[in-house]
Amino acid sequence: MPVSMKLPRRTLLVLCGPAGSGKSTFAARYFSAIPTMVVSSDYCRAMICDDPTNQQVNRDTFDVFHYIIRKRLFNGRFTVADSTALHAEARRKLWELAFHFGYLKCLVVFNVSLATCLERDRLRERQVGSQVIEYHIRLLQKALQEIPAEQWDRVYVLNEDDMEATIEIDP
Ligand code: UTP
Ligand code: MG
Repeated sequence: MPVSMKLPRRTLLVLCGPAGSGKSTFAARYFSAIPTMVVSSDYCRAMICDDPTNQQVNRDTFDVFHYIIRKRLFNGRFTVADSTALHAEARRKLWELAFHFGYLKCLVVFNVSLATCLERDRLRERQVGSQVIEYHIRLLQKALQEIPAEQWDRVYVLNEDDMEATIEIDP
């Protein structure tokens, strides 16, 4: 059964999941009407160094990522944060931005198995590799334990056999 999300315009929807779990696919599918609603850390990375995989520029990447999100929230825009958000610290930063602007703090967790992430990674052009994905899966297990205590207004956990959702944003 598809997850039903009825969200106010002042919502920060934070995607959280391992590489290859389908975060960007989900964002592209449900926010195709206004793609600028989606702020992607990989895109921010590419904007500053022309390489969406360059891990040497993490700090600057996330400065840009958070800066754009901050400006969108300041302007009252519905925003999707597309990054792995697997570390508690990364989620906390986004949570605090939403809190600061009086936004609804929503988390969408992509609970996808190692085998599926590896398979999807293998089939795509930009591969992150098995070591990274194995590490991400361990972080995901930790995140699933930590999230209930993080005070998100809503948490949606999507399982790989049911990634369907209906998303309605209040005008
Ligand atoms: P994504 O590129 O959406 O994963 O999908 P992601 O979570 O955003 O990964 P990172 O963190 O940026 O690295 C990965 C691959 O899986 C396919 C997509 O087409 C893409 O090639 N995919 C995604 C599926 O086959 N089925 C899905 O339901 C979702
Ligand atoms: Mg992605």
